[in-house]
Amino acid sequence: MKTIRDTWQWFLSSLQGVYPEKELQAMAKVIFCHFFSLGPAERVLNARLTVQPESIEILEKVIAQLRQRVPLQYITGLAHFLDLELEVDHRVLIPRPETEELVQWVIDTLQKERGSLEAPWSVLDIGSGSGCIPIALAGKMPKATIQACDVSAEALELASHNARKNQVSVGFFLLDILKDNPPLLDLDVVISNPPYVMEKEKRLMQPNVLDHEPHSALFVPDDDPLIFYRTIASKAFQWLNPGGFLFFEINENLGRETKQCIEKEGFVSIELKKDLNGRVRMLRGRKPGKKA
Ligand SMILES: C[S@@+](CC[C@H](N)C(=O)[O-])C[C@H]1O[C@@H](n2cnc3c(N)ncnc32)[C@H](O)[C@@H]1O
Repeated sequence: MKTIRDTWQWFLSSLQGVYPEKELQAMAKVIFCHFFSLGPAERVLNARLTVQPESIEILEKVIAQLRQRVPLQYITGLAHFLDLELEVDHRVLIPRPETEELVQWVIDTLQKERGSLEAPWSVLDIGSGSGCIPIALAGKMPKATIQACDVSAEALELASHNARKNQVSVGFFLLDILKDNPPLLDLDVVISNPPYVMEKEKRLMQPNVLDHEPHSALFVPDDDPLIFYRTIASKAFQWLNPGGFLFFEINENLGRETKQCIEKEGFVSIELKKDLNGRVRMLRGRKPGKKA
């Protein structure tokens, strides 16, 4: 029988060379904590205790998945987004840190606009995936009406589950934004992190993303990479109140083009914003008219 210390070493050596050392150590910490409730302190204190064969079997499966570059969040089934814990699997994109920054920008903007987040804002998120954006906003804006849509019924199922788990109310509905034009009215905020990776950018992507995350959440055709931005901006312009806000996460290589595209649809006060890594990843625009 292996001790906890031996098991830790065996786990790391089984994946040596597959991931950089630091990343591997970080992943091992998450795995031991998630599957066996062994945090760093418990691992050291109980280093000489023996590990049950069933636990070794679990780790063998995890090692096989990590060798195939399955993202850690799909292995544990959990992702963290701001202060939320969300369930994730192959149906949805794993929420990214830059999307957390986008949500924070929405919150800061609305807070500044009305001096409080208590106002009855009406918000629509397009392409909600795991539900990270609308669930985070619903948690911060108790009086808001938050709606969210996605073309994937499977993603909506998981997003609704995540909303219930986090005890917030979000109105999820199925919608193909490229085809449907529902009669939505009186929105104050439209937000979206739509697919924006060009097919030609595929070769720059890591296998953990390319082989495991849903392609319908990621890719757009090379000959029309702004298809979602143009369509969403045009529909959002009809749906928003005068002074309403449009927020996008964007492709860092298409900042200028995305800004022009939003301008053409009639939005004003358009701003691009860099993420913490200094990459242009967000855009905010406003429908002209009196303040939201
Ligand atoms: C980049 S992911 C973003 C997911 C989530 N909002 C996030 O930030 O992690 C894009 C999402 O748009 C959805 N989507 C793709 N095509 C769509 C369409 N035509 N209409 C509505 N949603 C669509 C995908 O299913 C996916 O959930």
